[in-house]
Amino acid sequence: MGEPVAVAVLVSGGGTNLQALLDAEQAGRIVSGRIRLVVSNRADAYALERARLAGVETVVLTREEYPGTEAFEEKLAEVLQQHGIGLIVLAGFMRILSGNFTARYPKRILNVHPSLIPAFCGKGFYGLRVHQAALDYGVKVTGATVHFVNEVPDGGEILLQKAVPVCRNDTPERLQKRVMERAEWKLLPRGVELVCARLLKESKE
Ligand code: GAR
Repeated sequence: MGEPVAVAVLVSGGGTNLQALLDAEQAGRIVSGRIRLVVSNRADAYALERARLAGVETVVLTREEYPGTEAFEEKLAEVLQQHGIGLIVLAGFMRILSGNFTARYPKRILNVHPSLIPAFCGKGFYGLRVHQAALDYGVKVTGATVHFVNEVPDGGEILLQKAVPVCRNDTPERLQKRVMERAEWKLLPRGVELVCARLLKESKE
């Protein structure tokens, strides 16, 4: 097998999905990729602490520092290139990437979204808002989706999905926890291994 694909994880918050990836790598469930870099757009994201504890390099690019999309994405691309990144994973990353940026990494950006796309997705649907919307609608089943990222928010090709039941008396927080535990934390590491294995294979052809 060749060198594992260098993976960057982009985060904004608690980083439980990042943790699932770090744990999967540790446990040998991700072998075709290696998490080399964590980028946060918030300096106070707990995800940064998780990265440091795992000995992964971190970079912070805040909106205050980079208010404009162009300057932000230019800097991001530069950092990714410096680290030889082959796959970008959005794990609770709350800044939308432009089509300009996503076109530079075709089929090399993965996102995890906490619903069964095409339900409850797109601009404005993030974090607890997604689960609130699912509860408001009254669906009995929701779940999570791992998909490639293109210029349409949550619109790229779907790689993996897993359904999770909605229970009576669910709150957005309770539903979020169930979707994370039963779907997101399993699907995302699986998706990362799948894509890295594919990239490694292609690099040898
Ligand atoms: C996760 O539920 C993730 O699916 C969601 O934010 C949460 C981040 O949690 N992402 C989106 O809503 C993107 N549209 P984490 O920081 O603990 O991984």
